[in-house]
Amino acid sequence: MMQILKTEFLGLKLKNPIMAAAGPWSGNGESIRELLKAGAGAVVTESVVSDILFDVRPRIAYDGLGAQNIRLYSGIQIEGWERELAIAKSEEGVVIASVTAHTPSETAYLAAKMEKFGADAIEVNLSNPMWESLEVVAADAETVFKVTQEVVSNVKVPVMVKLSQNTTNISAIARAVKQAGGHGVSAINTIRSILKVDIDEAKPVLSTYGGYSGVPIRPLGLASVAAIAQTVDIPICGIGGIADYRNALEYIMLGASAVQVGTAVMLEGPEVLTRMTAGLEKWAQEKNLKSIRQIQGKALKNLKSFDEIKIEPATSTASGAPCTADCGKCIKCCSYHAISKREDQIFVDKEFCTGCGLCTFVCPAKKLKLDW
Ligand SMILES: Cc1cc2nc3c(=O)[nH]c(=O)nc-3n(C[C@H](O)[C@H](O)[C@H](O)COP(=O)(O)O)c2cc1C
Repeated sequence: MMQILKTEFLGLKLKNPIMAAAGPWSGNGESIRELLKAGAGAVVTESVVSDILFDVRPRIAYDGLGAQNIRLYSGIQIEGWERELAIAKSEEGVVIASVTAHTPSETAYLAAKMEKFGADAIEVNLSNPMWESLEVVAADAETVFKVTQEVVSNVKVPVMVKLSQNTTNISAIARAVKQAGGHGVSAINTIRSILKVDIDEAKPVLSTYGGYSGVPIRPLGLASVAAIAQTVDIPICGIGGIADYRNALEYIMLGASAVQVGTAVMLEGPEVLTRMTAGLEKWAQEKNLKSIRQIQGKALKNLKSFDEIKIEPATSTASGAPCTADCGKCIKCCSYHAISKREDQIFVDKEFCTGCGLCTFVCPAKKLKLDW
């Protein structure tokens, strides 16, 4: 079953490319087992650290769209992970250990321990919006090089490095990982955020800056993955805002070899992975694919640099059944005053339309399209 979804990432054989990301849902052996049972192609553990910090309360906020968290990593000491990994590995599947520390040698120490306890690969988490020192690390190619090199030379299993979007040039950081001998990158981690402020109390919803995750960060994750794929030849695991199998496909089409799901698992439980893998398999069958790898990077050829875009004449016109709806959304959003209502019908004045395209996205009935 699911031959079509079988793939390889960092030399690891995965039953499908959809992994569970690092987070409290993968914080111990039993939870990892549940995620593998639900169909995860691999599970990344919650990040293991050397100094255990107390969890802040409250630490996770959600506004119906995205989440902010100030979760501070695994509460289990490194030695305790021997038992947790043994439990996790009692279920068939790939387990990737996430490690995070303040220095290259400390990171390598944690990685070597997790390898000894049975981890199939290491994910180095360099990018955390709560630890300010780490935020600087994730944006500094030289430090990323040093940490990666130290970890790679201390373990035999493959090493991927998790990158942050809080940097000006994510491709330069990915290049540093490759030059240091890293086997892959994952992108993106959460983004530094304040989810909201209670204006009556003048109080941010959580007591410090945190990481933003979930559906609203997907466009940022997609852009990061595409930018890396276009510039560095290194396997990429796409992360950020994946809520269904279509979103996984978006990342794969932009060059990711595999993906990770975090917030959707947190909100909906491990079964979301079962739904995603089933959806992905059905889609691949309908497209008559032999392997999901056939579509990897397929959208990159349609992603041009700004200088390459041809400016073609375009006019927006109403198409399909004439629109008599009263919503007026297209009229309000047209900065060029090209759309009006005439005799109860939407009318697009081609003389004023500059083909920006916004009305085609805003129209709830999808009645407007750009004519080329
Ligand atoms: C509550 C919470 C805890 C997280 N803990 C970790 C962690 O320990 N290590 C890590 O690398 N990423 C951690 N992340 C980040 C996720 O692994 C993932 O990169 C991020 O949430 C974006 O993916 P998503 O939009 O699917 O959640 C955490 C995210 C959340 C929401």
